[in-house]
Formats: sequence, C-alpha cells, structure tokens
Amino acid sequence: MDMRDEILEILVSTEEIQKRTTELGQQIGHDYDGRNPLMICILRGAVVFLSDLIRSVPIHVMVDFMGVSSYGGTNLDSTGVIKITRDVDANVAHRDIIIVEDIVDTGLTMKALVDLMKTRGPGSIEICTFLSKPQRRKVDVDIKYCGFEIPNKFVIGYGLDYDENYRNLPFVGVLKPEVYEKRKEEKG
Ligand code: IMP
Repeated sequence: MDMRDEILEILVSTEEIQKRTTELGQQIGHDYDGRNPLMICILRGAVVFLSDLIRSVPIHVMVDFMGVSSYGGTNLDSTGVIKITRDVDANVAHRDIIIVEDIVDTGLTMKALVDLMKTRGPGSIEICTFLSKPQRRKVDVDIKYCGFEIPNKFVIGYGLDYDENYRNLPFVGVLKPEVYEKRKEEKG
C-alpha cells in the first residue's frame, strides 16, 4: 500500500522545502562566517532536515546528535519534562551551538533543552527549527531560524512521525482521520 493514499492534504511541498532549506543554509553560513558552529540535531525527527540543511551551509560546521524524549507524553502531545536518551559527544563549552529541531509545538521540549544546554556554558545558543506551530505555544521560545510556520494541525513527513511511521515522506502532510482510528483499533 502506498503511504500517500493515507494523506489528507500536503501542507509543505518538496519544492518549497528545498527552496527554504537552501535559504536557511545560506543564512547560517552568512551569520556564522569564521565561527565553526556545532549543529546539534535532535533525534530522530530532525535528521532529514539536518541532512538537507548542512549541504546548503557554505562554511565549516560540526554536527552532533542528541536523543530526547518527553516523559509521560502521548504520540500527539509532549509534557516538557525531557529525558536525554542520547547525549552529544562534543564538549559544548564556549562553542556556538545551533539546535536543529523538527518542530516547535508547545515549546516545552525546546525550552527544557535550551535550559539544559545553558548549564554547560556554550558561547552562544540559537534554535533552527524546520517547523513551528505558534498557535500552540505554552512557553516563549526564541527561534532564530524557522523553515515554516504552520497552523495547529498534527503533521507528518520529512522526518516527522506518527507512531514512528511516515518519516520518509518527502513533504509535510496531514493524515486522513481514519488512519488514526485504524491504528487505535490495531493497537486495541
Ligand atoms: P513540544 O514540546 O510541544 O514543542 O513538542 C515538540 C515535539 O513534539 C517535537 O519534537 C515532535 O517530536 C513532537 N511533535 C509536535 N507536533 C508534532 C506534529 O505535528 N507532528 C509530529 N510530531 C510532533
């Protein structure tokens, strides 16, 4: 079965994503010229975005990975209490950090992440998120680089998952409601 049959609508197309990631990469290159920033990719959702983004950055950057999950959250909602499932290898102290995330929704996860990073004494911290849902925000998050602002809808594709599926779709879309119902039935 083709996953695309499960898509209700496409919110951000492959072409729009390519154009925007190129713009962001160039902007980061311009802003960090001569500084060698450390780009920390938040697993697993931001992997697709990171891999496109870094290929558009024209300066030297380093890449590291951090695994984060939210305690007690559901598939569709986070709690703001985060658990680090994989920490960065790099020493963050005095480095220019760019946190690369798939989506900032309520902002709780990102706020917890930035607060944690700040305790490690970085030279600077900025946020680069592929998507943002400003209408859902519960805490203030200062986003320097944002791919797209989207409405309050649960989206999948381009790294974003529902129940660990759909990350490999090359666009951002919304699932048909029956997909959720079917999955709930399957899980009992
Ligand atoms: P926040 O703490 O509410 O900002 O949620 C951040 C995390 O929730 C993201 O890193 C995603 O893993 C997940 N998330 C929030 N909204 C969506 C969505 O629309 N699709 C897929 N995952 C989402």
